[in-house]
Amino acid sequence: MGFNDFFKREDVYKIIKQTLETEYSLKVEFLNRLDKATKESKNKCIFYCIPRLNIIFSKYVNKRLLIGFLIRTLSGNQSIIKQLMIKLYIVFGVFVPRLFSSNFMLVCNEDFINTNIIYPGNKKIKILDFKNSTVTNIKKTGFKGNWFHKEIEFRVNSKYDFVLPILEHNDSRYKEALLTGIPMSRLQNKKRKPFLNKTNLILDNIKGKPENIEIKKYVESLHEIVSQKLSDRSFKQILNISDMINRYFLEMDYIINVVDSHGDFQKGNIFITEHGEVKILDWETFDRRSENYDTMIYNFNLRNSHLLVTNMQVFLNDRSTKIEFSNMSRIDILLLFVLEDICWLIEENIELPENSISIGLENYNKVTVYNYLQSIIN
Ligand SMILES: Nc1ncnc2c1ncn2[C@@H]1O[C@H](COP(=O)(O)OP(=O)(O)O)[C@@H](O)[C@H]1O
Ligand SMILES: [Mg+2]
Repeated sequence: MGFNDFFKREDVYKIIKQTLETEYSLKVEFLNRLDKATKESKNKCIFYCIPRLNIIFSKYVNKRLLIGFLIRTLSGNQSIIKQLMIKLYIVFGVFVPRLFSSNFMLVCNEDFINTNIIYPGNKKIKILDFKNSTVTNIKKTGFKGNWFHKEIEFRVNSKYDFVLPILEHNDSRYKEALLTGIPMSRLQNKKRKPFLNKTNLILDNIKGKPENIEIKKYVESLHEIVSQKLSDRSFKQILNISDMINRYFLEMDYIINVVDSHGDFQKGNIFITEHGEVKILDWETFDRRSENYDTMIYNFNLRNSHLLVTNMQVFLNDRSTKIEFSNMSRIDILLLFVLEDICWLIEENIELPENSISIGLENYNKVTVYNYLQSIIN
């Protein structure tokens, strides 16, 4: 997801400006065109903002390293022609950034020139430092920070080798090593194969000690969370979905396993290093969930909210036995997943600044989703 996607949700440049000003005691200014006067003001450093490349960088950047980073991060699993076009866009974007910038960021502080690559993420901004091979993650201003702090706590205490250690941290930022490699989402299917065993082992490893809970009771507790936290009638379809799923499980009488869960085990958060190690990123939503939740997100691309119903259909029609699920029926697995996922999105929504709404939550709040789920129940 590039920062273009966040314009629907938030005032992206304003948040970047406020975040950097607060964190580094700087004065930051965004302009949508550069005139001669700004160019000539020597004590200001110009940063180019290229939303399609999800990057903001200064002219002092090491172009070779930046191009390498962008090619690994943005190209790989598309057709050859598309990959070529992306690579060309990257090379031109880095060498003639003025033509590709949607905005120019001016920073009045020469020291900040050493910070020359900003990679805006979903809830944090990453400052990449190629010289020291580190990434500093800064909590975006206006975001609540519960997830940010949960991630720090989890990673500082984690002993798993698939969790990247945190080198130093405080309340609003943490530093980690800059990895060289590629997210699994950028690998072609055939190149993912050698890593599937490893990721499945990790999925299993994360679970820890299972807790047996009656499905009925578990669903009821989730339904209660949804009704309490989304009492706002603008989420009418979601409330209907939750009610329908709760009623469906009232008839059921079996036990499920609730385990530790990453919460966002999607291929963009699975990083393959140049040495072939697998590192799992984004631990901010680590929590207890049903044992199928992470497997669903991972195998059926269910964090991709644009394809929600399509991917649910793919899951229901999938007959492969390669993916291990507990003994529940596919419909039960899907309905339980939906309710847990809505709870995940409610938590995400709470994280966002006032007046922003989670895109995922809006996607569930559609009559088409409700109708689809009702059609599979009947
Ligand atoms: N330490 C790192 N070194 C190199 N690249 C990274 C590192 N952490 C994240 N990335 C890259 O940035 C992308 C987004 O990072 P992530 O932590 O998942 O943030 P977000 O909250 O925006 O999803 C990842 O898919 C990965 O390609
Ligand atoms: Mg991520």
